[in-house]
Amino acid sequence: MRKSVIRELLKVTQDPEIISFAGGLPNPKSFPLDDLEGVIHDVMKNNGRSALQYGTTQGLESLRVAISERAYKDGVDASPDDVIIVSGSQQALDTVGKVFLNPGDTAICGLPTYLGGINAFRSYEANLTGIPLDEDGMKVDVLEDTIKQMLKEDITPKFVYLVPTFQNPAGVIMPESRRKKLIDIANEYDILLIEDDPYGKLRYDVDHIKPIKAYDDIGCVVYISTFSKILAPGFRLAWTIANPEVTRKMIICKQALDLCTNTFTQYIANEFIRRGSLDLHIMKICELYKPKRDIMIESMKKYFPEGYTCYKPKGGMFAWVTLPEGIDTEVMFLDAIKEKIAYVHGKAFQVDGGGERSMRLNFSYSSNEQLDVGMQRLGNVIKKKLEKREAVA
Ligand SMILES: Cc1ncc(COP(=O)(O)O)c(C=O)c1O
Repeated sequence: MRKSVIRELLKVTQDPEIISFAGGLPNPKSFPLDDLEGVIHDVMKNNGRSALQYGTTQGLESLRVAISERAYKDGVDASPDDVIIVSGSQQALDTVGKVFLNPGDTAICGLPTYLGGINAFRSYEANLTGIPLDEDGMKVDVLEDTIKQMLKEDITPKFVYLVPTFQNPAGVIMPESRRKKLIDIANEYDILLIEDDPYGKLRYDVDHIKPIKAYDDIGCVVYISTFSKILAPGFRLAWTIANPEVTRKMIICKQALDLCTNTFTQYIANEFIRRGSLDLHIMKICELYKPKRDIMIESMKKYFPEGYTCYKPKGGMFAWVTLPEGIDTEVMFLDAIKEKIAYVHGKAFQVDGGGERSMRLNFSYSSNEQLDVGMQRLGNVIKKKLEKREAVA
């Protein structure tokens, strides 16, 4: 098993003077403290004895009902029996690995892709093959060619792992046509799709787009989403929606992992939804993050030297920046830390050794002022690096 680069980085960034764009942290200002105080009070008063007890492994039924109703609004027709409440999407990813991967198996993911997914799948000794992304997410034509080639070589990929909506780390969103094409590929080659969707509700300037799961008529998509980015990551509360067979296997795995997800936070999230507070809260989060995204992108234009590229994310929490030739963002990280600035270098999100010139910048956590100051500092670090590169040349 390998240590997580991001978890290690987060330790360095504990220094309060450092402006960190490294973690994938929600802004703590977004946590609805007052509303939750009322909810917790009512949960204790009305359901305290159940909320403090062990629960079923699959999760609180009323919360599963609420989740299936919400999924229905997003175009996903799922019964509460298809839902498992898990201890964070990270647990879902680990469970997917446990259910599907034997040592030496192959799984497919995006390039770049979420580091926590890489770590979860590699812990089951799987080989990961990366499919490059463009501004519309995973290149599905390359995916199809890769699957065909694998099958010729007698390799049956176990699944394709994707974050199709406001991808972590690249920020891109996959259009409907590609989502449908993915379902066709999954049907044709009989392959599972693991759709990880923590950011789908954090939309700033695009219309709602249905999850891939919404196009799934045969049960080939395992859908994962979480309360971490729309309520509170400290709750450790997420959910999966999958076909009955996969759901059954995942529940068996979860029994051995933790018996059940935190019952208390399940009651709280359920009551928060029941009161109609979640959608209002998501709107507030979007109102908080959209200007942060804009400040980050505009400050980049102001302070970064020419030659960088950055896709302006239409939602989510991350901007993905690629710098001019000759800069290694892992090496530059040490200079950045000296200037009290942190990010995650691009190599951390690769499975094939690329990503040297890229970095992931989180815009949700910092204050608006820190975003501007931080991008100025980072711009200076990059300028100095480029000057050194010129001097050597
Ligand atoms: C794509 C993706 N999947 C899963 C997770 C894990 O989220 P959770 O807090 O639900 O475990 C994250 C967290 O940043 C993420 O970005």
